[in-house]
Amino acid sequence: MRMVDVIEKKRNGEELTTEEIKFFVNGYTEGKIPDYQVSSLMMAIYFQDMNDRERADLTMAMVESGDKINLSGIEGIKVDKHSTGGVGDTTTLSLAAMVAAVGVPVAKMSGRGLGHTGGTIDKLESISGFHVELSSEQFTKQVNDIKMAVIGQSGNLTPADKKLYALRDVTGTVPSIPLIASSIMSKKIAAGADAIVLDVKTGEGAFMKTLEDSISLAKAMVQIGNRVGRNTMAIISDMSQPLGYAIGNALEVKEAIDTLKGNGPEDLQELCYTLGAQMVVLGGKAKTIEEARSLLVEVVQNGKAIEVFKKFIEAQGGDASVVDNPSLLPQAKFQIELPAKQDGYVAKMEADEIGVAAMLLGAGRATKESEIDLAVGLILHKKVGDQVKQGESLATIYSNTDDVQNVLDKLYAHIVISSDKVEAPTLIKEIVLD
Ligand code: URA
Ligand code: CA
Repeated sequence: MRMVDVIEKKRNGEELTTEEIKFFVNGYTEGKIPDYQVSSLMMAIYFQDMNDRERADLTMAMVESGDKINLSGIEGIKVDKHSTGGVGDTTTLSLAAMVAAVGVPVAKMSGRGLGHTGGTIDKLESISGFHVELSSEQFTKQVNDIKMAVIGQSGNLTPADKKLYALRDVTGTVPSIPLIASSIMSKKIAAGADAIVLDVKTGEGAFMKTLEDSISLAKAMVQIGNRVGRNTMAIISDMSQPLGYAIGNALEVKEAIDTLKGNGPEDLQELCYTLGAQMVVLGGKAKTIEEARSLLVEVVQNGKAIEVFKKFIEAQGGDASVVDNPSLLPQAKFQIELPAKQDGYVAKMEADEIGVAAMLLGAGRATKESEIDLAVGLILHKKVGDQVKQGESLATIYSNTDDVQNVLDKLYAHIVISSDKVEAPTLIKEIVLD
């Protein structure tokens, strides 16, 4: 087989066979096919698209390019959740403990990542003593014992995706539905998920800015999952403003704890119940979404969810007393208010720019080498649609320096107050089942 023929075929809008897809994925991973040919093929896919069968083949070729996590020692259906990324998204921590409390095993592999705040692991490390270095035996045993564990990235998962994603990044071929969908799904499948719930964000703070694109991406991923034998569902949720009120590592841990006790921000609490209900159904612990949801509400109200979270922290070496005493989490030196300059209604809180403000405080990483300050970040006091009075605080800035003029300027520029009444955006836009 010659790579140039594969490129020409796709350029002409033809369908690639399973063998042709395996050929270029393996050839590229092994260094036998050069960057220039693969970038040409990526561009051809960008313009000509792939059908459902090609997308599933591409996903599985990337899964097969490296190690796969074996979760077969864990009892039950392993349901994983993936979010396409947003600002202040504290969902994973609360959601995991909630569904675990209902009996769905949560065997999560997580990363640190770049972004406005750290990843799930950074957030968890704001709990004193907490660690994610578990052997695979410890990991399996912990999930069987308490239904929840989080481990750091290990093994050589989907090397083909790593190479392809890096190449796409510099060749203008990232925003392609078949390429994004296969990239995300390959990682979830290699991490051992039996079933997958996707939270596809939409709006200014999201990867996909329009509802139409978000639905296309969700459908593409759901179809890949179901085609390769992983039950998959997606929801489309709003990311035009940050989720919840907290943006920052320790601040989000406290928010997750509040949510597990049923005292979380309304949007975060709702998103956890919506995603959680899907996970519980896929995990076989309820027949209907309604039944699943009431099980989740029950474990929050009777304290079982927060109990699982405590056990999870203890099992991984952390100080579980933070659950009752969140002031044990890292604290910033300064708290600076952001008073509203006028009366009115909050019309916009641009999620991506507010995320950048948190990053300026040190809550996130700009490069892999950046150090994160776990204590800093923002607590918003308003959401879009809320009424505000002049002088009332829109947000509290948690900082380790009192020189935050750049952060204040950024927030004022991207929190828009209008004199007219504004509708709050709906949180859950769509549910995609096939
Ligand atoms: N996230 C991924 O993991 N892959 C993509 O291609 C785009 C976003
Ligand atoms: Ca939040």
